[in-house]
Amino acid sequence: MASAIKISDLYKAYNTKRGQKVALDHINLEVPEGSFFGLLGPNGAGKSTLINIIAGLVNKTSGSAEICGYDAEKQAKQARKLIGIVPQELVLDPFFPPYEALEYTAGFYGIPKNKRRTMEIIEAMGLKDKAHAPSRSLSGGMRRRLLIAKALVHSPKVLILDEPTAGVDVELRQQLWDYVKRLNKEHGTTILLTTHYLEEAETLCDRIAVINHGKIISNDSKANIMKVIDRKKLIVSTKSALKEVPEELEKFSANITDDGRLEINYRSLEVSVGEILQALANAKIEIRDLSTEEPDLEEIFRHLTKS
Ligand SMILES: Nc1ncnc2c1ncn2[C@@H]1O[C@H](COP(=O)(O)OP(=O)(O)OP(=O)(O)O)[C@@H](O)[C@H]1O
Ligand SMILES: [Mg+2]
Repeated sequence: MASAIKISDLYKAYNTKRGQKVALDHINLEVPEGSFFGLLGPNGAGKSTLINIIAGLVNKTSGSAEICGYDAEKQAKQARKLIGIVPQELVLDPFFPPYEALEYTAGFYGIPKNKRRTMEIIEAMGLKDKAHAPSRSLSGGMRRRLLIAKALVHSPKVLILDEPTAGVDVELRQQLWDYVKRLNKEHGTTILLTTHYLEEAETLCDRIAVINHGKIISNDSKANIMKVIDRKKLIVSTKSALKEVPEELEKFSANITDDGRLEINYRSLEVSVGEILQALANAKIEIRDLSTEEPDLEEIFRHLTKS
């Protein structure tokens, strides 16, 4: 399949007062056309740097980034027409109301008046009530949605979203994702999304790349990534303290913690909690309390870098 984005041996070092800071360490990455692609990584991993180079907002040190075959730097004009970017930083003109901001952007891209979708986009982003209010009167979440609206004005083939849901409340987040999903499914728009949230990547993306310390440490289908990181923990407080793991639970990876709780590590794709609870019942263990833990990103990175 053709690539919407092709990154080859991309290297970026920022000049800082304390010398050079390598943000991207020779990255190769292809985002297939029509995919919903997640770029997952902790703070400072290099996500925004990568995305800003693709969008022509940051200069690379070496290597290349192509958008549908156009070089992001040498053919910047063509490349930019194909991209809609929602930056992580909130940059807005405080005096422009959403309607005017979108009309202005449409003018910038040379979209004729009868082809504009200004109100449709404003409504989809839940900003109808604020369409004519100055941007400075918008809340943080509304401003973020306005940034998304601005990125959609020229119906880009590739939509790049850098942490788009930071500060957006749950209901609107859902609405926003429904809209982006429709763009992907119905219009074939390629979506590249960065996030810290595994859950967000898991529900939306069909491919996920993991970046850490400026290096891509994993790039696979969602199903394969989920298999690698499918590790959960069930913690059981029992009515009477346990000294050792009961026989019935030996087939699971279980241990007793220092404070006498039973800890069972399992993969949710292989074992159901029901099976574990059945084994606890068979062992006649009386449960006082139960909780589950999912691995955090750091643990996931450890697993991914090991495998
Ligand atoms: N303008 C800059 N000057 C110097 N260093 C920078 C600059 N921008 C980013 N960095 C550094 O480059 C590295 C990558 O930063 P980047 O913003 O790309 O990470 P990120 O993955 O987007 O993080 P976050 O999840 O916090 O948004 C970090 O170590 C950061 O401190
Ligand atoms: Mg960032």
